[in-house]
Amino acid sequence: MKIFLIGFMGCGKSTLGRKLATKLGYDLIDLDHQIEKNTGLAVGDYFSTHGEEAFRKLESETLQAFNYPKNCVIATGGGTPCFFDNIDWMNANGTTIYIEMPPTALAKRLESGIAKRPLLRNLTPEGVLEFIESKLAEREPFYTKAALVMSGISLTADDIRAEILARN
Ligand code: S3P
Repeated sequence: MKIFLIGFMGCGKSTLGRKLATKLGYDLIDLDHQIEKNTGLAVGDYFSTHGEEAFRKLESETLQAFNYPKNCVIATGGGTPCFFDNIDWMNANGTTIYIEMPPTALAKRLESGIAKRPLLRNLTPEGVLEFIESKLAEREPFYTKAALVMSGISLTADDIRAEILARN
């Protein structure tokens, strides 16, 4: 089974994905890392060199052409479900889980990593919360197409595992 974790930057996709994969004995595929491996560029550098549009194409191609093992957890990028037909493709090819978190919590969790995030790095600390609020509102229609929506506040890999087992 393929489990796609989706949600805004900072909601915990990579960390929860790693823990969930370990608990299930599945492989973890981190989409951003995969893109970095393929291009030899950090996502932030890819954005600066080639721009967001090129990144979105590459992200979608990587998502949809990857040779996935039978059982795996995929930590997607925050924008992945919101471009092309990516969310429909993920829903057709696995179980999607939206890790939901309010903007204030996201802003707090992203505070120390602003410089690394291409979409945040030109914002002032005050501008970050405002950006998250509007971007999240724009993205929520895509995120909520997920098969499962779970609150990310104090969410554990065990909670996700239990929810998946209950469904299958
Ligand atoms: C992005 C989120 C990032 C990365 C890129 C764009 C976004 O992934 O794909 O910087 O548009 O929200 P994370 O959600 O893993 O930080």
